[in-house]
Order: sequence, then structure tokens, then C-alpha cells
Amino acid sequence: MPQARDAGSGRGVNRRQLLLGGAAAGLGAAAAIGTDLAITAQNRSSPTSAAGADAISGSDTIPFHGPHQAGVATSPQAHSAFIGLDLAPDVDRDGLRRMMRILTDDAARLARGQAALADSEPELAAAPARLTVTFGFGPDLVARAGGAAPDWLAPLPSFGIDRLEDSWSGGDLLVEIASDDPVTVAHTARMLLKDARRFAAVRWRQDGFRRARGSEQPGTTMRNLFGQVDGTVNPIPGTEDFDAVVWSTDGWLAGGTGLVVRRIRMTLDTWDELDRPGREQSIGRTLSNGAPLTGVNETDEPDFAATGAAGFPVIPDFAHIRRARGDGTDRIYRRSYNYDLPPTGEGVSESGLIFATYQADVTAQFVPIQRRLDELDLLNQWTIPIGSAVFAIPPGCDHGGYIGETLLP
Ligand code: HEM
Repeated sequence: MPQARDAGSGRGVNRRQLLLGGAAAGLGAAAAIGTDLAITAQNRSSPTSAAGADAISGSDTIPFHGPHQAGVATSPQAHSAFIGLDLAPDVDRDGLRRMMRILTDDAARLARGQAALADSEPELAAAPARLTVTFGFGPDLVARAGGAAPDWLAPLPSFGIDRLEDSWSGGDLLVEIASDDPVTVAHTARMLLKDARRFAAVRWRQDGFRRARGSEQPGTTMRNLFGQVDGTVNPIPGTEDFDAVVWSTDGWLAGGTGLVVRRIRMTLDTWDELDRPGREQSIGRTLSNGAPLTGVNETDEPDFAATGAAGFPVIPDFAHIRRARGDGTDRIYRRSYNYDLPPTGEGVSESGLIFATYQADVTAQFVPIQRRLDELDLLNQWTIPIGSAVFAIPPGCDHGGYIGETLLP
């Protein structure tokens, strides 16, 4: 049977034309149209279409208000934009309060699937798809607010592996926008940035992604662009353990947390030269399901003492998980996103991780891990930190309140 090349070109022949043309001559036009409708209906009720209808999730919402800001303990959405802004020189404490009231109002409306005030594209607000907007404060913002900054709210100490670029580092205000729908991320970013522009200018923006919602079972650990299962050993939101690792109990930050955003380039072009056993040893886990090299399942506890036939540790001394874990007392909550951009150099990739980690105290929890990885971690051969920023994520607020009200009463 001839296949349609282009239904509109007049050269190809599509199913409707066949039915209404040659084939219809024998059937009668009415019967032919009936057949066509029947086929269409059948297609609609095929398992694929039915699953498609079930999967519509654009109206799903995550409550904006509460004791903690949304977007930290929230099961990660498929898309995220981390936007770092610099405050305009003349923005004082009153200006900060005005800014945070406006941005909070925008974010709360958009998270409900409602247009922001003076939304120029209100139709785009209709599918929040689990939209969250999370605000963070850099050291200068807290200083201008006249607040006491936690001692960790400062650029991280420098590490030997760092190749930091100013254009990916620092910032006074962080706006992290996450949703399962990239159109929603774009619209939310535009609305918030329009309203922020008399107070602050964009310093950097990092767009990241995970698997699309519906591609795999909810709760599946993400994979990074090395193909590794990434995020297995992580505190579980909703547990006391998570609360202790993540939420601060300190002054105006109580109910908030500390965020480290590291932009880490992953050199996929040289990673390609490494064989599969080498790739697995660099982490200490298998690529197939993320199980430790001493185990079978992803969540099996690694046996760091196990040795192979030649007496060497099965999980090598240089393996990322051995180095990251240390004695197990330094804990952080990782919630990272992949990035993938057009190549700029000689290779075919410009990819990496927007490595985002939350912890109540950056100096006590994050820095010792990063120090150990700086000293030894085979993964350093293929990963280069090119951006770094630290933010205090203030607590959430109630209806009628605003993010930052504990710092800017
Ligand atoms: C591009 C850079 C990185 C990649 C590709 C990467 C990848 C991974 C992978 C695949 C795992 C094993 C599975 C898991 O538990 O998540 C892991 C574990 C871990 N990573 Fe990374 N990582 C990177 C950077 C970092 C950095 C910068 C830190 C902190 C400073 C870090 C801290 C950890 C921790 C704490 C664990 C869990 C260790 C354990 O207790 O088993 N990672 N990472």
C-alpha cells in the first residue's frame, strides 16, 4: 500500500484519501468515513493513548506555603533553572523587603497554577506541573538586611581541583525554579526576573534536567550523564534523619537550610576512553544498577573492608564513594541536575552536573567531604568544578507572609 509522504502535498496518499478515493468506490463514502472514524477511535483507545491521557500531570501542584520552602524536600522535578542575581547598588533593607514581598506573591500564585499579577502570558501559568520556586540569600544580601550571617555563608575555601569562573560563581539572590514542564520553568523565570529587575540583575543562570516525568517509576534514583546512578546514599525527605541533616535551627534561618551549588563540568570525551571496569572502580559502584562493587542491589551497604584475590580492596582507595563517605559522619542532601550544552571546544560535549547540596551547616558538613575529594578521588580525572556559590535558604512562610520575613521583619 502506498505510504503518505506528506498528507498536505497532494503527492502522497494518506489513509483518509485512500478511503474516500479508490477504496471508497466499493464501500460507499458513508461507510468509508465510518471505517475511518472507527480506526481513529480504536487508535485513541489503544494502550499508548490511554497511558498518555493518564499521564497528564500539568495541573499537579506543590504547596508553596509551609514551615520550609518547597523545592528542597520536594521529590525532584524534571527541569530546574538555578538563577543567581546581583543586587543593584541602591537596594537597602526596605527595598529588599519590597522585592521579597513581590517575588513571594508571584511564586505563590504561579505554584497554584494562577497567573502572577500583571502576567503578560497568563495562559502559560495554567500548567504548574509541580512548580516550586526556592529563594536563597547570599552574604551581601544578608549584610544589607542587617542580619547576622551564619559563619558558613561565604565563598567556599578554594580547592586544588577548582577551575572556577566568575561568571558561574557567587551571587546575592538565588531563585531556583523547578517543574516537570520546561515551558513552566521558562515562564516562571520570565515573570520573576521581570519583577526583580528594578532590584537585581541576572549574574548567571544554570538550566538542568533529569529524566522526563513518566519515563520511569517515580522515586527512581537519577542517572548523571556518565550513566551513573547518582543519589543513592542520601537522607530521605520526611525522616528525622533528613530534618537533622538539612534544616537549620539557628535564629532567622531556623526552618531554612544552606545550599551549595557547584557547576561541575564532566569531560565526557575523555570519559569515553575509560573501559567499563575502570568506570565502575572510579565510583565503587556498578553502572548497571548502582550496586556497590561488593553487593548486588543498589541499596546494599558497601563493604569497604572486602578485598579481592590479589588482596586489593574491591572498592578501591581512590573510589569516589569511599572518599566521599569518610567515616560516615559528614552528611549532606544531594539534589543535582544534569546540564548539556553545545560544545565549545574540540570535543563533542559540554556537559556536567549542577551539583546542588543542602545541609544545615556548610562548613561542618559539606567542606570536609569536598576536602577529602580534593585530596583523592579518581573521578577528579573527568570532573572539573567551574562554578561555586553558597546561599542561605530562608524558612518558608505562611499565607500573607513572605520569604525572608524572619530576616527582614
Ligand atoms: C560531577 C561530579 C560528581 C559525580 C559525577 C558524582 C557521582 C556520584 C555517584 C555516582 C555516587 C554513588 C551513588 C550515590 O550514592 O549517589 C556518588 C556518591 C556520593 N557523592 Fe558524588 N559525584 C560528584 C561530585 C560530588 C561532590 C562535589 C560531592 C561533595 C563534595 C559528592 C558527594 C557524594 C557523597 C556524599 C556520596 C555518597 C557517598 C556514600 O556515603 O556512599 N559528590 N557521587
